[in-house]
Amino acid sequence: MKNRILEELRANSGQPVSGEEISRRLGVSRTAVWKHISKLRSEGYSIESHTNSGYKLVGSPDILSSSELEPYLHTEFMGRNIIYLDSIDSTNTYAKKKAEGLFREGTVVIADEQTGGRGRLGRHWVSTKGKGIWMTLMLKPDILPSDAPKLSIVAALAVTNAIRSCCRLDAEIKWPNDIVAGGKKLCGILTEMSAEEDEIKYVIIGIGINANMDNDDFGQEVSSIATSVRIESGMPVSRKALAASVLFEFEQIYRVFTRDGSIKAFLEDYKSKSAVLGKEVRLISKKEEIKGLAVDISKEGHLVVRLADGSYREIMSGEVSIRGMHGYI
Ligand code: BTN
Repeated sequence: MKNRILEELRANSGQPVSGEEISRRLGVSRTAVWKHISKLRSEGYSIESHTNSGYKLVGSPDILSSSELEPYLHTEFMGRNIIYLDSIDSTNTYAKKKAEGLFREGTVVIADEQTGGRGRLGRHWVSTKGKGIWMTLMLKPDILPSDAPKLSIVAALAVTNAIRSCCRLDAEIKWPNDIVAGGKKLCGILTEMSAEEDEIKYVIIGIGINANMDNDDFGQEVSSIATSVRIESGMPVSRKALAASVLFEFEQIYRVFTRDGSIKAFLEDYKSKSAVLGKEVRLISKKEEIKGLAVDISKEGHLVVRLADGSYREIMSGEVSIRGMHGYI
């Protein structure tokens, strides 16, 4: 009901609408209308009361709730069901629990703040309130479980395209799925899957975009490797526009990908936005350290590295460091 009242206020585009009219149109009492208006105000909506003419919406909060995102969305199914949480430990953890039951394809869990944001390799992910896009996409793609890791490539390309088109920032992809600018990380992606034999039960893709984070938000240690769209572009970003753009870009690429579980159709595009191809890279795994020139990304989404002895190695997963002026970063 609260959202319907919001719609009524929005539909009057800046003109007051009487409580009586809202109650008549929506079939609720005027007291109920008043209660919902109070609730909306407590959520940050600025609503004026005019004695004779009624309520007027004069400002909306910068939050990623479904009613706030909806006007920006140009998707068919991605984000058409949004679970918005003011604060949660981790949207991935929340989505995982939800995904054990039935869920609508393209459901998105978004939080304004994460108190226990999870990064790859068990790391913590700084998720300051109101300053980033902390969201998890819930999917059940009809592809082989062995093709599911390629979804990280899909997500990375989608986020990069969205940042480039919304924020005029030349974001690049650090294989496999970190988005970087100015040599620092703008966005991280954590993909998790549950499958049985040859059937995927669910895939959840956690996307953390440092939209309007300041250096102080990261803390000293993290700020040496992390940055935000705002820091790099010098301008604050509309989280609503950027989140909606990510969902749009993702839907486009995901549709192509789920035809056959192949990344072939957009691999060249992904490669053209790569921060690692043509660079000297280093990979440290539990077993070994590999150093070489990153020369290609295979159709499986693996990184192809030419080693010093001229041989080639295909790397399936891991974290690469790129050799820069000050060593590997
Ligand atoms: C990485 O380490 O690069 C991956 C970071 C992923 C962070 C996002 S924020 C939304 C979602 N919820 C989480 O707890 N993690 C992911």
